Amino acid sequence: MPVKKKQEIELDITGIAFGGRGIARVDGFTVFVDQAVPGDRVAARILKKKKNYAEAKALSVINPSPDRIEPSCRYSEWCGGCKWQFLKYERQLEYKHSHVREALEHIGGLAGIKVHPVLPSEKIFGYRNKMEFSFSDRRWLLPGELGRYDIPRDFALGLHVPKTFDKILDIDACLLQPEKGNRILNEVRDFAKASALAPYGLRSHEGFWRFLMLRHSVAEDRWLVNVVTSEQNMEELKPLADGLISSHDDITGVVNNVTAKKAAVATGEYEVPLAGRSVLNERLGGFEFEVSANSFFQTNTRQAERLYDTVRQYAGLSGGETVVDLYTGTGTIPVWLSGDAEEIIGLELVEAAVADAEKNCKKNGIKNCSFIAGDIRESISGIKKRPAVMIIDPPRAGMHKDVVRAVLEMAPERMVYVSCNPATLARDLSMLSEKYYLDEIQPVDMFPHTYHIEAVARLEKR
Ligand SMILES: C[S@@+](CC[C@H](N)C(=O)[O-])C[C@H]1O[C@@H](n2cnc3c(N)ncnc32)[C@H](O)[C@@H]1O
Repeated sequence: MPVKKKQEIELDITGIAFGGRGIARVDGFTVFVDQAVPGDRVAARILKKKKNYAEAKALSVINPSPDRIEPSCRYSEWCGGCKWQFLKYERQLEYKHSHVREALEHIGGLAGIKVHPVLPSEKIFGYRNKMEFSFSDRRWLLPGELGRYDIPRDFALGLHVPKTFDKILDIDACLLQPEKGNRILNEVRDFAKASALAPYGLRSHEGFWRFLMLRHSVAEDRWLVNVVTSEQNMEELKPLADGLISSHDDITGVVNNVTAKKAAVATGEYEVPLAGRSVLNERLGGFEFEVSANSFFQTNTRQAERLYDTVRQYAGLSGGETVVDLYTGTGTIPVWLSGDAEEIIGLELVEAAVADAEKNCKKNGIKNCSFIAGDIRESISGIKKRPAVMIIDPPRAGMHKDVVRAVLEMAPERMVYVSCNPATLARDLSMLSEKYYLDEIQPVDMFPHTYHIEAVARLEKR
């Protein structure tokens, strides 16, 4: 075996894998190297060794790749939020493009497909309209903070460090959200730190303060603050909420989601309004949306418009069609296409999302969209009229094979598949290729500085 566990070794990085890790070869044996990019020569330590590959961590860069740049964020080396800040944006786009192409070839067995260059994000910083920060009773210390006993270790508000679930990197700024969000983050931190109540322990499952979620409306440049706690405590939270509202004209409202569940999910079992309104108004194209703390909404607002424009272009509607939108979420795609089709039916699992979808249609005076709540595996059989066009935008896991079967039986003339995971995109397109030509794919970058990529595929019936 060319490498051993714990071995320190110099490696030349020659490729990049989906997930963002660099690839090196040692006598033909593959080593995945965290925090390394093609063109780097690094000193690395082998952390894991399997039969066909090894995993290593870059300890230092001996010769940097010409594609490296100085990251703008001081936490980028440790934070799990964005792993590619040290890579030129043009190169990020190239790597994302090859991830889509390679997944199609290697996972889907689909070679020679037209994959267009990635549509870049207009903004590469401050583009996220929603951020979730975690509280913890265990702070992850930066190398410069080790041994500094003036820094309290039993409080943190920030983001996760990959592979450490219980410790949180205490951060005072995340560059992926607009700057104002960082001021709110720091005010909430100061308040929680000074309070008599403890932050939640991700191991002990005790403590009050759990998450801080910030949502931003791009259209109105206003904020919704959601404090997630393990129990309801108006006496503690009301002064925080009133203080935020009175000192910031652009905070629309403050809400409290309460959850006693152990799972680290920022959705409450119930929500308590604390001050102001509990929803933000947002606009996409000419449409208006109400976004509450727990609504699903694309996180890069302006890029969502480009994504939906691509869906519209690929759907090629002429006005008279029946369209079915699978995995419709809060109905944003039906709303976007409502003027282009006769009727659109959206299918979605989460009842609250369907209620939001119906509200969104009402708000925009849309009468030709309807929604069915439930698991698509069952609800798809409720579609009696064969749609001319089907839009499919599943979660990361892709489509269940029963749903693929049902779609093939329904046999719409055209399909538009929107995916946030090239691997399941490739798997599902391969199954659909039994009856459909895969015409073209447009990757759209919704998440600069991460390896994630959205892609829209156009399929026509054979
Ligand atoms: C990627 S999101 C779709 C987002 C939406 N098209 C948009 O752009 O806002 C995927 C949606 O699929 C829904 N979903 C997941 N599994 C489902 C299932 N088995 N049946 C129905 N809907 C499901 C999720 O609740 C989620 O809203």
